[in-house]
Amino acid sequence: MPAPRGPRDRAREPRGICALNLVLKALTLGVYHFWARTRVRRYLWSRSRFAGEPFEYTGRGRELLLGYALALAALVPLLTIGASYLVASGLLALLAQAGWQAALVDVSQPALDRALETIRRNMDRQVKKGALKEAERDAALGRIAPATALDAVRDAALVVEAAVEQPATKFALFAELDRMLPPPAILASNTSSISITEIAGQTQHPGRVIGMHFMNPVPMMALVEVIRGLATTDETVRTVLEIAGSLGKTPVEANDYPGFVANRVLMPMINEAVYCVMEGVATPDAVDTVMKLGMNHPMGPLALADLIGLDVCLAILEVLHRGLGDDKYRPCPLLRKMVVAGRLGRKSGRGFYEYA
Ligand SMILES: NC(=O)c1ccc[n+]([C@@H]2O[C@H](COP(=O)([O-])OP(=O)(O)OC[C@H]3O[C@@H](n4cnc5c(N)ncnc54)[C@H](O)[C@@H]3O)[C@@H](O)[C@H]2O)c1
Repeated sequence: MPAPRGPRDRAREPRGICALNLVLKALTLGVYHFWARTRVRRYLWSRSRFAGEPFEYTGRGRELLLGYALALAALVPLLTIGASYLVASGLLALLAQAGWQAALVDVSQPALDRALETIRRNMDRQVKKGALKEAERDAALGRIAPATALDAVRDAALVVEAAVEQPATKFALFAELDRMLPPPAILASNTSSISITEIAGQTQHPGRVIGMHFMNPVPMMALVEVIRGLATTDETVRTVLEIAGSLGKTPVEANDYPGFVANRVLMPMINEAVYCVMEGVATPDAVDTVMKLGMNHPMGPLALADLIGLDVCLAILEVLHRGLGDDKYRPCPLLRKMVVAGRLGRKSGRGFYEYA
């Protein structure tokens, strides 16, 4: 049996092998340097584009250091998702196309298969339109690692959890993630309404817990609502703002109150639209047409509710009602009835509208 190799063995290697090793290392460093410059250039470009500032790039000093950090970060599975389906599939596609290694975790294998199928179908569509090259699609798909066990995110530097909008599920997930991943890994939740402070309270390191609320459909919507819990550190916020910017999104900061900004404003409108249908004021189509043509909304509130998922809308309204203690957030009985009947919107094929 050969003797175990140790650091001293290098001295005994033939000169040719040592020289080859040196050349290979130099080449690796060269490629790494080039890659770092590409990453920082792309990052600065997307940041300037969304800030509306002119694009400036010198490729030296701090910029280069940032490039090295971004390139290094991309070598490990950096962004991983706690769960799948609607939002997570869009998020995964965005990350993989931006060059991140991403694990997609869902407890349900059918949900995982559906999410991967959606990602593949959407990328195929982009290839057909000429917006994505075939090789880029294949590379992006190759960066996605699907899994049904949370173990897959063990080495992640950032986890974006997007499981069902139920407090108990998120609390259990964060307690386990906190045990599995040591700091400085960041634990983000894509929750639409559940308190980030309360989620962070399930962990031993609340400073690294933050809300990263992507909008649906994730690849198309520019906003990421970044929610700071009571204990979230400035460093966590800064890192998440930078990552969101590097993905080509516009991050907006909000403090941790039920529904944050997006759903505190949106959900009462959707709820009122459901009341209009329940009380016979108008049909779903009429309600949506009024809001589209009269208020210039790109989509009516009921079609939007179907897109979000009626179960998700109900869960958010319950958080608003409970958390703010005001009856103006009381979920409409028709919304409850549709959810118990399994009419959840697009994802179940029927909500206020029918989907083939
Ligand atoms: N639907 C939207 O438009 C929208 C928009 C922004 C944010 N969000 C938020 O994103 C999250 C997910 O929303 P969605 O609409 O995709 O929900 P969904 O209910 O359609 O899917 C949630 C997925 O979580 C999985 N899951 C459940 N428990 C799990 C666990 N312990 N570990 C891993 N996976 C688990 C389920 O199998 C399911 O596939 C929610 O927090 C929601 O509030 C939703």
